[in-house]
Amino acid sequence: MYGLKNVIESFKNGEFVIVFDSQNREDEADLILPAQFSTPDKISFVLNHAKGMFCVAIDKEIQRRLNLYVPYNTKNSCTFTVTVDHKDTKTGITAKERSKTSKELANPNATASDFKIPGHVNPVVAHEGGVLARKGHTEAAVELCRISELFPAAVMIEILDEKGDSHNKEYVKNLAKRFSIPITTIDEIEKYILLNRPTV
Ligand code: 5RP
Ligand code: CA
Ligand code: ZN
Repeated sequence: MYGLKNVIESFKNGEFVIVFDSQNREDEADLILPAQFSTPDKISFVLNHAKGMFCVAIDKEIQRRLNLYVPYNTKNSCTFTVTVDHKDTKTGITAKERSKTSKELANPNATASDFKIPGHVNPVVAHEGGVLARKGHTEAAVELCRISELFPAAVMIEILDEKGDSHNKEYVKNLAKRFSIPITTIDEIEKYILLNRPTV
């Protein structure tokens, strides 16, 4: 169940993975899916079983190309941009429509005019230095895309238990076991990157 190897294999196949950050940070687990593999069923699963804030982690290139500006001087350390819906959605909130919006955020040919602002999906931009610069789920999600040679956009949502608690490790482990979702940590992703980065 644990191990980055299993996580990368699942992620490459368009399946969910779970990533814990450090206990000294948020001490939370996010359910993460490559955005290019979004389907209405998968997004419905996310909404039923994770229940946190529905985000799509993206890299800076996507942010620039889609003109996803950051509308406020935020005190939150996450770089949330304006919210979006794909232009072909109606209300934007259904699993089907959030799946469409998420998938299109990972479309390399998408342009700013393909999205309506504001919407029901929260893009959040990863630091260009990745997990070596910021040890957040946002960077971990985009790093996993890079390692898996996928488009750098991933659906990401915190796992909350029945009471809405985000720190219930037993709940996360049971969810992972029940649905055979592999688990890793941001520390493990960082170690992998340090070991595998090209030497100059
Ligand atoms: C958005 C969040 C989550 O913690 C999400 O995991 C992204 O944040 P970070 O990159 O700081 O971990 O705040 O709901
Ligand atoms: Ca957070
Ligand atoms: Zn987080």
